[in-house]
Amino acid sequence: MPRHLLVTGGAGFIGSAFVHHVVTTTDAHVTVLDKLTYAGHRESLAGLPEERVRLVVGDVADQGLVDELVGSLTGEDDAIVHYAAESHNDNSLNDPSPFLTTNLIGTFTLLEAARRHDVRFHHISTDEVYGDLELDDPVRFTEHTAYNPSSPYSASKAGSDMLVRAWVRSFGVQATISNCSNNYGPRQHVEKFIPRQITNLIDGIRPRLYGAGLNVRDWIHADDHSSAVLAILDRGRIGETYLIGADGEKNNLEVVQMILEAFGRPADDFDHVTDRPGHDLRYAIDSTKLREELGWTPSFQDFEAGLAATIDWYRENEAWWRPQKAETEAKYAKTGQ
Ligand code: NAD
Ligand code: DAU
Repeated sequence: MPRHLLVTGGAGFIGSAFVHHVVTTTDAHVTVLDKLTYAGHRESLAGLPEERVRLVVGDVADQGLVDELVGSLTGEDDAIVHYAAESHNDNSLNDPSPFLTTNLIGTFTLLEAARRHDVRFHHISTDEVYGDLELDDPVRFTEHTAYNPSSPYSASKAGSDMLVRAWVRSFGVQATISNCSNNYGPRQHVEKFIPRQITNLIDGIRPRLYGAGLNVRDWIHADDHSSAVLAILDRGRIGETYLIGADGEKNNLEVVQMILEAFGRPADDFDHVTDRPGHDLRYAIDSTKLREELGWTPSFQDFEAGLAATIDWYRENEAWWRPQKAETEAKYAKTGQ
């Protein structure tokens, strides 16, 4: 019987990238559990074979539904891969409440089901749980860095990681955790930095840079995130945390200028807007453990080429993002961003 994965949040940006990756690189079957919030799109799973990918619309905090789906994972290699979350920092500053419900109660609900049915669990988390670094900090985040989250979003993700660790230690749940850096690629919501600027330029609007634009993010293509998660599912040690990153540090100004260049626009053709409160300065991942222990390497080594392909995707898939654009920009306008 082929492996069966329950992928929560599989209609979102990175979850859908993972489902596409699993279907093209393995013979596994996938059940996606997704609430289809503003960030989830049925269309992100379009084109995948129906006999291998099933979408269940529902909430990860729904105990009955989660128990039924987890209980159906009976194969030795079957697993839950937990992507579902409220994922956007700016939204968490405007209204933290759904972040606590989905990211904490949702993770708790899944862990309890994994415990009841003794099912392997992989938890998708973020480098933001570690707080931020100075621009000239010589040491990047490692699995030993102390947790120090800044926003309601990153605090809720930090809390969810702690739940996983406690369920491993106290109840013997067969779980692993990964903390990844900033992802880019197709099917990312237009509220996020890179798709926002690309779709702004398609619409003839100038890119919007928070503050001076000197904040650094460590970019990784979502497909490389997916291959790392599969490596952890296959070869990761239970109870361990793995940091995922592709040595892709760039400040926001550099990224905006690369996007402007791709659109043939001048390098200063952007607006500085109100900064994000509590804005983390720099994230940077040391992924030595993942590379040395599991033999993983990223395949997207050229950020500019990956960015160009991402720009092409947004140019060719306007029907996917257009319905979200006006509402997203109206929300940003309210906070001067
Ligand atoms: P996203 O916002 O694009 O997608 C989230 C998905 O979860 C959506 O499909 C949404 O409908 C679904 N969802 C939300 N609440 C739900 C609920 N209560 N029940 C069921 N489904 C629900 O997010 P993303 O950027 O794809 O992030 C996915 C995961 O990866 C998150 O756990 C996030 O913390 C983590 N992560 C993201 C990044 C990044 O750069 N985007 C980096 C590292 C880690
Ligand atoms: O590091 C991993 C995290 O990356 C994930 O855990 C989050 O789910 C994901 O959203 C992302 O968080 P960031 O806050 O880093 O991503 P965002 O795309 O919101 O912003 C990236 C940077 O760009 C950040 O420094 C803020 C800035 N920014 C953002 C927007 C939307 C701008 O300058 N202008 C903008 O319009």
